Amino acid sequence: MCGIIGYIGHDNATSILIAGLKRLEYRGYDSAGIAVIQNGQIEVRRSVGKLTNLEQALQQAPLYGNIGIGHTRWATHGKPSEQNAHPHRSNGVAIVHNGIIENYLTLKQRLQKEGFVFDSETDTEVIAHLLALHIRDGRSLHDAFLAATRELQGSYAIAGMYVGEPETLVATRSGCPLVIGRNEKAAFLASDVTPLLPHTHEVVFLEDGDIAVLTAQSTTITGAEGRVAERKSVRIDWDAEAAEKGGYPDFMLKEIHEQPQAILDTLRGRYSYETGEADLPDLGLTSQELLEAKRMWIVACGTSWHAGLVGKYLFEELIRKPVQVDIGSEFRYRQPMIQAGDLFIAISQSGETADTLAAVREARLRGARILSIVNVVGSTLARESDGVLYTRCGPEISVASTKAFTGQVVALYLLALHLGRIRQVLSLEDGRWWLDQFMALPSKVEHVLKREAEILSMAKRFYTMRNFLYLGRGINYPIALEGALKLKEISYIHAEGYAAGEMKHGPIALIDEDMPVVVLAPRDQLYEKTVNNLMEVKARKAPVIAFVSEGERELGALADFVFTIPSSHPLLSPIPFTVALQLFAYHVAILRQVDVDRPRNLAKSVTVE
Ligand code: G6P
Repeated sequence: MCGIIGYIGHDNATSILIAGLKRLEYRGYDSAGIAVIQNGQIEVRRSVGKLTNLEQALQQAPLYGNIGIGHTRWATHGKPSEQNAHPHRSNGVAIVHNGIIENYLTLKQRLQKEGFVFDSETDTEVIAHLLALHIRDGRSLHDAFLAATRELQGSYAIAGMYVGEPETLVATRSGCPLVIGRNEKAAFLASDVTPLLPHTHEVVFLEDGDIAVLTAQSTTITGAEGRVAERKSVRIDWDAEAAEKGGYPDFMLKEIHEQPQAILDTLRGRYSYETGEADLPDLGLTSQELLEAKRMWIVACGTSWHAGLVGKYLFEELIRKPVQVDIGSEFRYRQPMIQAGDLFIAISQSGETADTLAAVREARLRGARILSIVNVVGSTLARESDGVLYTRCGPEISVASTKAFTGQVVALYLLALHLGRIRQVLSLEDGRWWLDQFMALPSKVEHVLKREAEILSMAKRFYTMRNFLYLGRGINYPIALEGALKLKEISYIHAEGYAAGEMKHGPIALIDEDMPVVVLAPRDQLYEKTVNNLMEVKARKAPVIAFVSEGERELGALADFVFTIPSSHPLLSPIPFTVALQLFAYHVAILRQVDVDRPRNLAKSVTVE
C-alpha cells in the first residue's frame, strides 16, 4: 500500500509534493522519492527510510519545476533501497505506481529484448519502459498509457509524465485508489484525498480503466475504451486526520474493512488455474527441499500464533503431514526436537518480534530451513529467512492485529495448496477447486462487513459484561482463541477461548447468567457436538451468542443472538468467522469508550523479550 502524489501548476512542485507525501506517509514508509521536470529534464531524488531523509537530499540538491510526481513506498517487489524506490524512469518518462503488476516477468523479458535495461528489482519498472516503448512508437503520453494498460495485469494506480509533453500529467488506475482534484491554478492527484485537502475539497475518484490527463488549466478523463468520460466530483468535508483513516473513526475499523482487498492482494498473481497450483516464485525453497523436510514447525506470537494454529489444522487435513506449532517464547527455551532439513515456518506481521526471531535463530542453528510469512518487506525476519511469503496487507497501524491475521491465513492456504500439489495429495482438479474457493473469500468477508449493524446490536446488549467464554472446535478452535484475544486486548473484558469439547473439564464451573458464551459453529462434521455443548451452556442460563453457517436453524432456537456467516468449506470458515468476531470486539470496545487503536499496555511490535 504505497502512496502516490502528482502536481501540475505554476508553483514549485517540490514543496507541494513533499507536503503531500507527509500526509500519505501513513500508507507506507520504507522509502520515498519525487521527480520533477526541471529545465526540460526529468530529475529524481529518492531516499530510503523516513521522509526526512528525502527532505535532506532535497536540501543538498534542490529541485525546481512546475510538474512533478512523488511516492512513499511500502515494498512488495524488491527490498527497500534507493534503487527500488519510486519514481522509476525510462527515456524521458517518469512514473510512480501503487499496486502489483502480475505479469511483470513476461513484460520484462519482452522489454529486455527491445533493448530496455532494468535498474531495479521492482515490478514497477516495466511500466516506465512500456510507456517509453509506446512513445518511441509515436504515441502521445495518454495513448501510451492506453496501450500499456491493455497489457498490464494486476492492480495499479499509476501517475506519469514525459519530457516531450512537459505540460501534462497522466494517471490511471485499476484496482487501486486514485483521486484527482484541482483549483483555478493547478491540478493534483493522489492515492487518497488526504494530500488534496489543503488545495481543494472537490475531488473526483477515478474508476477502473480511467485515464486522466491533467494540465494547469484543464482535466480530461477518458474511459477504458479511450473515449472522453464524465465523472462527477464529490465534496469531501473531512479534516486531514479523518481523511487518513479513509473516513473511518479509527484505523482499526478501517483495517477490518480493508480485509477483502488484503485477501485479494495476498492471492494476486500467486496462482495458476492451468496447473491448479499456487505460484510462489519468492518462496526461496525448491520443491525438492520442501519434499525433503521430515517435519514441519510453525512458530509465532500473539495473533500470528493463532494463524499458525489454523495452519496446523489446515496442513494436517489437506496435505497429511504432521505440524508442530509453538509460541516463540516457549520454543526458544525448551529443547525442541527439530532436525536438519525440517521446514520451520515463522509467522509475523512486523517481522521484528523478539521471541519469534530468537526461535528462528535457534531453528537455524539446528539446521532447519526457514520460511517466513511476513507483512513488512525487508524486516529482520524476512532478511533472516531462506524464503518469504509476504502478506500484502499494507501497513497495519492499529495495535490489535486484524487484516494481517487474515492475510497470514490466506498465505497458509497458498502454501498448503503448493505443498499438496507437489506432494501429489491434491490433483489438478482439486487444485483448481481450491483456487475457486480462495477467490470467493473476499466476497464472503464483504458479506459479513455489510451486516455490521447486526453485530453492533449484539455488542450493545453485552458490552457491560465482565467475562466472556469463546468456544470453537477443529480449525475454529484457534478462531475462538483469536476472538477472545481481540476482546481482551481492546475492551479490557476478561475473555477466554476454549476448545468446545474441553468445556466440561473446567470452564463449565464458571458458567452462569453473567457469563456470555460465544460459540462458533460452522456446518461441519463437529456441528452436532457443538450443539450438545450449547445445551449444557443453556441449562446453566448463560446468554449464548452463536456464529453459524447460513441456513442453520437448530442453534437459532438455543441462542440469544445468532449471526449467520456465508457457507464455505470448513477449512476456509476461519476467515469470515474471524472478521465477525473482530467487529464484535471492536463495537464492544467502542461502547466502553476505549481508544481501540492504542489499547493500554500493548505495543504493536514487541522487539524485546
Ligand atoms: C504484539 C501485538 C499483537 C501481535 C504480536 C505478534 O503483541 O500487540 O497484535 O499479534 O505482537 O506480532 P507479530 O508482528 O510478530 O505478528
